[in-house]
Amino acid sequence: MIEVTGLTRTYGGFTAVDDVTFTCEPGRVTGFLGPNGAGKSTTMRVMVGLTPPTRGRVTIGGHLYRDLPNPGRHVGVLLDAGAQHAGRTGREILTLGARSMMLPRSRVDEMLHTVSLTDDEAGRRVRDYSLGMKQRLGIAHALLGDPEVLVLDEPANGLDPAGIRWMRDLLKGYARRGGTVLLSSHLLNEVELVADEMILIGRGRIVAQGDKQSLLAGAHHGEATTIVSALDPTALATALRACGLDPTPEGNGFKVAATTAEVGRAALEHLVVLTELRNGAAGLEDLFLELTSDTQRETAGAAA
Ligand SMILES: Nc1ncnc2c1ncn2[C@@H]1O[C@H](COP(=O)(O)OP(=O)(O)O)[C@@H](O)[C@H]1O
Ligand SMILES: [Mg+2]
Repeated sequence: MIEVTGLTRTYGGFTAVDDVTFTCEPGRVTGFLGPNGAGKSTTMRVMVGLTPPTRGRVTIGGHLYRDLPNPGRHVGVLLDAGAQHAGRTGREILTLGARSMMLPRSRVDEMLHTVSLTDDEAGRRVRDYSLGMKQRLGIAHALLGDPEVLVLDEPANGLDPAGIRWMRDLLKGYARRGGTVLLSSHLLNEVELVADEMILIGRGRIVAQGDKQSLLAGAHHGEATTIVSALDPTALATALRACGLDPTPEGNGFKVAATTAEVGRAALEHLVVLTELRNGAAGLEDLFLELTSDTQRETAGAAA
């Protein structure tokens, strides 16, 4: 369990992370999604004691990271896959990690196997690794101490589609066995398939959070919106008003601040034939595009 409470981090007059509060639960994969520069890495660096917070705090299993006696046994961290000593081989890096955590050497081979790095690859120097191989090595390093919490910053960067699927299965399996996973990404589709919970961050502030299903359905607006059309629009408007709803014209039909069930029931009661009934709330993708629109050069059309 990770608890972030009122976390703020400023650099001079610039607020990189602004009063951020969220929780990552065991057994769940939490996606931390936001455009470049949103404050994801800063939040994660505070989690693992690399950056001091300006205000607020982060605890892992109830403890500050720096108070964990053997942190690698509790928290697996991958912040920057390029941050390993380039002159060492993958196997050397894992062996050093295992030694510092007082783990048996056999753990190194187990982890190399888990992340599908071959003996040959493990014997090469990290400077000759592709980004995808560095990410695999970084994940192996994070898993080495069999921690209950994983903090992974953009772990899918540089992985090919098969690698992304492999990681998705690995993280889902880890969470199913009770682990807590926080992974960040600036790409919605990387997070969408693996996350149970999602936290959206933009310009240092949380803009939406919750379980994936309700976020995708637009529930972050806190208010249901329904788009509805009927063969007889006048009859529909009358039926909606009779049920205390307030339709506003939109396209061929109406927009109503109510759930699809409430609108459907109103139509049923008044025997109005519907031709369309759907959730009209902006989905997660719309919200995410809104967030990214002023930080990315691509137009929505080019990105699609
Ligand atoms: N050490 C630092 N000094 C000054 N600004 C920083 C520092 N670290 C991060 N920032 C700024 O804080 C903002 C958030 O950065 P970051 O947390 O890396 O975002 P993300 O990981 O979401 O892309 C960015 O505008 C970044 O330039
Ligand atoms: Mg980052």
